Amino acid sequence: VISLYIGMAVITYSIVESQSLAMNPLLIPEAYIIGGQPLCSQLAGLSKGQKKLCQLYQDHMQFIGEGAKTGIRECQYQFRNRRWNCSTVDNSSVFGRTAFTYAISAAGVVNAVSRACREGELSSCGCSRAARPKDLPRDWLWGGCGDNLNYGYRFSKEFVDAREREKTFTKGSMESARLLMNLHNNEAGRRIVSDLAHVSCKCHGVSGSCSLKTCWLQLADFRKVGDALKEKYDSAAAMRLNSRGKLVQVHSKFNSPTSNDLVYIDPSPDYCAENKTTGSLGTQGRLCNKTSEGMDGCALMCCGRGYDQYKTQLVERCHCKFHWCCYVKCKHCSRTVDQFVCK
Ligand SMILES: *[C@@H]1O[C@H](CO)[C@@H](O)[C@H](O)[C@H]1NC(C)=O
Ligand SMILES: *[C@@H]1O[C@H](CO)[C@@H](O)[C@H](O)[C@H]1NC(C)=O
Ligand SMILES: *[C@@H]1O[C@H](CO)[C@@H](O)[C@H](O)[C@H]1NC(C)=O
Ligand SMILES: *[C@@H]1O[C@H](CO)[C@@H](O)[C@H](O)[C@H]1NC(C)=O
Repeated sequence: VISLYIGMAVITYSIVESQSLAMNPLLIPEAYIIGGQPLCSQLAGLSKGQKKLCQLYQDHMQFIGEGAKTGIRECQYQFRNRRWNCSTVDNSSVFGRTAFTYAISAAGVVNAVSRACREGELSSCGCSRAARPKDLPRDWLWGGCGDNLNYGYRFSKEFVDAREREKTFTKGSMESARLLMNLHNNEAGRRIVSDLAHVSCKCHGVSGSCSLKTCWLQLADFRKVGDALKEKYDSAAAMRLNSRGKLVQVHSKFNSPTSNDLVYIDPSPDYCAENKTTGSLGTQGRLCNKTSEGMDGCALMCCGRGYDQYKTQLVERCHCKFHWCCYVKCKHCSRTVDQFVCK
């Protein structure tokens, strides 16, 4: 079913300011698209194929944007203690280079579109029609309205990958290698969402007796997707092109990466110093933890440059009292804490 929305309602995109992702045009901060305006031509920067999909599936665009936003927020959470914290100098050619950002944004789109189907927000899909799991106990009902992972997966693949698929490069070129890498990482992100989806059930029956259960397919909490992808990122496989123009692993003694693993071609920079070419912001000015020996510790975070120590006032809510009925009243307490900032 194809739906064309002529009189569009107002759609609000409020997305992190970053010219960055595979679908960067949707990351326009606070772009208001007003009824009657041609939505798809306003989203400047869509690839040719994406523009076509946009015209055919205008009601999907909001969820693509939200999915990408969720992905970036998760990226910033996962990398908050790293030298690279998921932000970059504003350069679209740069941010796209990390395997993680491709995967997490593709995952975010699957997540958002699958859920939008279930919630009845899209005209071309509805509740999941996934087959009943074989191991579900016989007397439990299958058929609550589940997240439509099948649709979300297929749509995300079509839309997010379109940009890469349209590119034409000579076989064996570095650009063609990057294209294959991006497609691989997009797919890994989608598969993680798919792998982490699970069966969820609700009890029915007289006063909570749970004599009857209804079950459906449910997406995992997106934090779990972020955690899983972070692990994949830390064990990503180094790849190169072989003579037949296929991506193969550099270290052939390891197991080949599967479709669920992340891959890279160019090793990451160390992100210690600012470098516009690599997209590194550097770690000058970053907070670090004096006592930690991990990546967030001052030694590693500041790359041996040392740190400055400041005293800051931290204001917190304290002495909270519950008042009948029903609110909580707190005082503000401030305390002085030491802060360590990379030189
Ligand atoms: C930035 O990184 C590139 C690639 O690693 C390197 O060749 C270049 O020298 C770096 N530039 C600066 C200013 O450090
Ligand atoms: C982004 O980086 C590329 C490669 O380093 C450079 O050629 C281009 O000018 C940069 N674009 C912007 C907008 O800074
Ligand atoms: C990431 O680090 C840069 C400096 O390297 C800083 O300007 C930026 O605010 C940080 N972003 C987040 C989301 O913490
Ligand atoms: C700093 O690191 C230590 C050791 O890992 C940890 O116990 C502590 O909570 C950290 N402090 C902050 C402010 O994150």
